[in-house]
Amino acid sequence: MKRIAVLTSGGDAPGMNAAIRAIVRIGIETGCEVIGIRNGYAGLIAGNFVSLGARDVSGIIQRGGTILGSARCPEFETEEGRKKALWMLQEDNIEGLIVIGGNGSQAGAYHLSREGFPVIGVASTIDNDLYGSDITIGAYTALNIALEAIDRLKTTDSSLQRAFVVEVMGRSHGFLALMSGIAGGAEAIIIPEAETDPEILADELHAAYKRGKPHAIVVVAEGARYNGEELARYFRENRERLGFEVRVTVLGHVQRGGEPGAFDRLLATRLGAAATEVLISGKHGILVGLIKGEIATTPLAEVAAKKKGLDLNLLDLAKSLAK
Ligand code: F6P
Repeated sequence: MKRIAVLTSGGDAPGMNAAIRAIVRIGIETGCEVIGIRNGYAGLIAGNFVSLGARDVSGIIQRGGTILGSARCPEFETEEGRKKALWMLQEDNIEGLIVIGGNGSQAGAYHLSREGFPVIGVASTIDNDLYGSDITIGAYTALNIALEAIDRLKTTDSSLQRAFVVEVMGRSHGFLALMSGIAGGAEAIIIPEAETDPEILADELHAAYKRGKPHAIVVVAEGARYNGEELARYFRENRERLGFEVRVTVLGHVQRGGEPGAFDRLLATRLGAAATEVLISGKHGILVGLIKGEIATTPLAEVAAKKKGLDLNLLDLAKSLAK
């Protein structure tokens, strides 16, 4: 393989640049020309390609976001769009492609691979909801941002004896909410994987209030049955039942921004390098991720078909500790 390409797709994640850097430098070292595709699958369809040399990826390992740009691309979900994409790759003599991204991006990679094009996925999403990698690029940095916000909210919370509902990202998976809730000592954690009854929750918070707690932090994943605003509205309408006065903070895209931490730089570097080596060695149709601390590959077909689980014992642990 002499000419490979890389794209970043979907929600950006801190560490994507470290992965691009590793792909470019290992690709060049192995005798390949590396092409960057701008703005994800949208750039692939449009033929928005740029040749990347070792110097083009200098000074990016510490930068958040993605130097290549990303996109959510509805056109790529159509057969017509994917045909155009394949044609663009063939027209530019690209022999293999590395897709850095989460669920939607890897579903796209699987489509290209089914058409016979050599594709490798690199597991990257702050949501950490991708099957085939215990941890994905960006998740730990986002987790630390959520945690810092929870710690800060707790100080103002305690000063005014309030309950804070903190909504963190996570469309279908409670990783960020569960982990930041445990690490931040939250009084309650609400995730898509578990049932929530606002009445029971209000009673639990009231019990905490009666026990003399100066604050209550409720961490909610955005994809839970009730989002942050909905829960806060219920609590406000039932102020007497709760005890605490309520405020709500939606962290949103703040969690995706900023510099990647050491863990994500290392993870992205390892996954990017491994993906390049695997592609050049002739294997494809797989996702490169980290399983039990080791680099591991999983067929894209399996990644597209399976859902990643979450250890719900941790939710019970968090409940036991919220005394
Ligand atoms: O990348 C994942 C994610 O951050 C989700 O947590 C969130 O629901 C979504 O992306 C937001 O997407 P967008 O940036 O397109 O609004």
